[in-house]
Amino acid sequence: MIAGHGALRPKAALHKEKRGQPTDMPRKLRAGILGYGRMGRGFVAAMQESEIWEVAAVYDICGKARQLARHNAPKAAVSDAPDAIFEDASIDAVGLFTLADARPQQIRQALASRKHVLAEKPIGADIATEWQLVREIEASDRFVAVNLFNRNAWYHKDIQRFIAEGEIGDLAVIRICHMTPGHMPMEGHDPEGPPFHDCGMHYVDVARWYAQSEYKTWHAQGLRMWGHKDPWWVQAHGTFANGVVFDITQGFIYGHLAKEQPHNCYVDSIGTKGVARMRHDFTQATVELHGVHETLQKTAPFNDKKLDVMVDVFGRSILAGKNLGFPQARDSVIASEVSWAMLNDAVANAPPVRGTPEEMQQILEHRRKMVNGFGLPVKAQEEPESPLAEALPAIPIR
Ligand SMILES: NC(=O)c1ccc[n+]([C@@H]2O[C@H](COP(=O)([O-])OP(=O)(O)OC[C@H]3O[C@@H](n4cnc5c(N)ncnc54)[C@H](O)[C@@H]3O)[C@@H](O)[C@H]2O)c1
Repeated sequence: MIAGHGALRPKAALHKEKRGQPTDMPRKLRAGILGYGRMGRGFVAAMQESEIWEVAAVYDICGKARQLARHNAPKAAVSDAPDAIFEDASIDAVGLFTLADARPQQIRQALASRKHVLAEKPIGADIATEWQLVREIEASDRFVAVNLFNRNAWYHKDIQRFIAEGEIGDLAVIRICHMTPGHMPMEGHDPEGPPFHDCGMHYVDVARWYAQSEYKTWHAQGLRMWGHKDPWWVQAHGTFANGVVFDITQGFIYGHLAKEQPHNCYVDSIGTKGVARMRHDFTQATVELHGVHETLQKTAPFNDKKLDVMVDVFGRSILAGKNLGFPQARDSVIASEVSWAMLNDAVANAPPVRGTPEEMQQILEHRRKMVNGFGLPVKAQEEPESPLAEALPAIPIR
């Protein structure tokens, strides 16, 4: 099921041999989970499916989340304090899936107790702290992966391979759009910032990853939808140091009260000779490659946040003792810093107001009644006996 895992068995088997156990059953890596909300549940489900991982412990400050963890991960020790996880020498790695404000202290405690780290983004709530963490992480011998999930996506890898083959000439323009009826003001995630930082940093990272260059200039336009204080829609455009130009559009403002929930998500890379692009509907992703020698189209499952790919590459990296391709803290912090700067530029450019606070209340009320929508808070799904709790891993984390 997991590509490449078998190749690492000899090294993993060593652990077992030392403990006097048969070598054909390699020791699983043991994970301690901090934060059992939407992402924590997704990662635990992915680890439970993995041959490499065992969920040893779960910590959350919320009683209902702990109750659900006991139900979904009955073999894990579930607690209301993190200390036992950091003190347990048999735990190889921690998953940090709380919010950005708690992460810096947790990363430091993990490194001090010699744990590898699988962290959600952003790794901190302010840029100075994030850069200080990068220095501490890079000075450590522990692995720290950050969930820049696009870097684990088959469709981006296909497009980048096609570009590297010279099929579209030199990359010249990268255009990215991610608009959904997603997370609303007042629904939490305050330490992560407004959508252009919370979600948009992923696309700031994707554009930089494609361009293989650093951001040089930009201008951003925002819109204060419903009169909310922060722009909930932002478009930034500008240049990279190597001359590639970009535009990124992100907004959780796309058809909240439409009868059917729409979305508009794509990456369009335009070269001097051809075009390589993708779009997705959160179920399937399609790449369309228009090169000088080949025209290719492929549709395959979108695979949500690709958490199976992340736990696999992270686990195999720990077993191999080298990074086999997991996304790193430095890239996350650059994306965080640039997306904050673009958001601030949008704020400085006097974003106009459209819509009313009454419309916003209507949307919030509508979302309180929804059971499956874009970026819904997880509260409604926290009763262990609820059929939704059973279905949780399958509910998209979009
Ligand atoms: N990479 C991605 O695509 C992606 C997608 C969604 C969310 N995220 C990130 O994942 C993180 C979690 O987001 P979420 O949507 O799962 O949030 P969430 O609110 O659903 O879950 C957070 C959980 O952490 C718990 N928690 C909060 N502070 C805590 C603390 N100090 N100690 C212990 N538990 C604590 C809460 O009780 C909750 O159960 C955020 O940082 C967010 O930015 C990333």
